[in-house]
Amino acid sequence: MTQSVEVTGRRLAGKCCFITGAASGLGKAMATAFAAEGAQIAVADRDVEAGRAVAATIGNGFFISLDVTDETQWTVALGAAVRAMGRLDVLVNNAGVVASRSIEDTTLDEWRFVNSVNVEGTFLGCKHAIPHLRASGGGAIINISSVAGITAAPMMAAYSASKGAVRALTKTVAIELARKGDQIRCNSIHPVFFQTPMLDSMVATVRDPDRFRSGLQGTVPLGRFGQPEEVAAMALYLASDEAKFVTGAEFAIDGGFTAA
Ligand SMILES: NC(=O)c1ccc[n+]([C@@H]2O[C@H](COP(=O)([O-])OP(=O)(O)OC[C@H]3O[C@@H](n4cnc5c(N)ncnc54)[C@H](O)[C@@H]3O)[C@@H](O)[C@H]2O)c1
Repeated sequence: MTQSVEVTGRRLAGKCCFITGAASGLGKAMATAFAAEGAQIAVADRDVEAGRAVAATIGNGFFISLDVTDETQWTVALGAAVRAMGRLDVLVNNAGVVASRSIEDTTLDEWRFVNSVNVEGTFLGCKHAIPHLRASGGGAIINISSVAGITAAPMMAAYSASKGAVRALTKTVAIELARKGDQIRCNSIHPVFFQTPMLDSMVATVRDPDRFRSGLQGTVPLGRFGQPEEVAAMALYLASDEAKFVTGAEFAIDGGFTAA
């Protein structure tokens, strides 16, 4: 299903945004939507070829190579982005990886890998973006968690733990900054199953992908997977000044999944 969102070209006019994992899936959709609404975008990803391609197609963007698990790369990438754009208004911590395994089958290496990208990457992004956002007089951090950070996610032990940590970190960052008097908002988005390469890679591992797909869709009250543009629309709101009184909040975009 294609969703149409009205594009005014103005909702993020003049905003300078840094989006991780922007070479693919939800990150690519957010980069595209933000650029269409007038933002400049630092397209950050470890996938150089795909990231460059996204930066070239969205118009108002440039690519920055970044492995979110590497602290030195974070400081270099944010410094380069601020030099190029002149300021930083929005950080989206979106880069993520998934592992579909039960708690008993999850190895310590797998656990550490998933948590290093999803949790440590988000921690490092928040930590090192805050001084730049403060220098801009405030801004927004958007952390992409998951419904797996709110409810049980059987066979996704490391992933659900990582996304629960992102949810808690988001609230803590929001309140620490609010108490300091910073006008830096921090919110989390919790998608259910969205049609992206990550979902395709999960489906590809099972014996009967069609049955698995329809089984997953059957767990969503609205009966379908989400489209990346729908997450982009929510992120666009949170990045914009329309959300200037919104912080420490969690936004499920899940066709009713967490309400059922
Ligand atoms: N697709 C879904 O159903 C779904 C549901 C809930 C949450 N999410 C979350 O949304 C986010 C985006 O997922 P997606 O579905 O677009 O996945 P995707 O696999 O299509 O894209 C993920 C992007 O992150 C990048 N990335 C991975 N590790 C990185 C690292 N260490 N450093 C820098 N970049 C890195 C990849 O290169 C890729 O471009 C993830 O955090 C994911 O957990 C996705």
